[in-house]
Amino acid sequence: MLPAIAAALHHLAAFLVVACLVAQRLMVTEPMTPGLARKVVALDVTYGLASLALIAVGALRVHFLEKGSGYYFHNALFLAKIGLYCLVGLVSILPTRTYIRWRQTLAKGRTPLFSAERRAKVTLCLDLELAGVAGIIICAALMAKGIGAF
Ligand code: HEM
Repeated sequence: MLPAIAAALHHLAAFLVVACLVAQRLMVTEPMTPGLARKVVALDVTYGLASLALIAVGALRVHFLEKGSGYYFHNALFLAKIGLYCLVGLVSILPTRTYIRWRQTLAKGRTPLFSAERRAKVTLCLDLELAGVAGIIICAALMAKGIGAF
């Protein structure tokens, strides 16, 4: 039963990550208002929590609930998946730092500044994160079937 619950949580967290990224990507193209900025900040917090849930549940699955760590650490696509997860995490730093500044501005009752240059950087990061997550999902499906084993 526990492996099935963990698998369900893993899938839910993965879908939540994609949903948060897509919603952010659509919202940051709009002219920024305090209300919109608050929603984007909330989406980023949800995204961060879902990412943490993915690594926590994923680690439990690797070590205790699925095929054993020997299976995963001898699979190139699992290692690629973890590498992509780390890269996506690194790329997410720039948008998150932007939103942290927005929170400080919002707390002072002002509308966050969102220059065209910053907007271009944030949208590029979100596009890269979405591409990375797509790669993670492909690696996950293939490695679960034993493809990439060495
Ligand atoms: C954005 C991050 C992640 C996404 C989108 C994601 C997505 C998925 C998906 C869709 C599956 C199901 C594959 C299938 O059964 O066809 C899966 C399985 C799995 N994932 Fe993740 N995952 C992520 C991060 C992680 C991390 C960080 C770990 C390890 C620490 C991990 C460990 C696992 C394990 C052990 C399985 C089970 C594979 C099996 O059935 O043998 N995942 N993941």
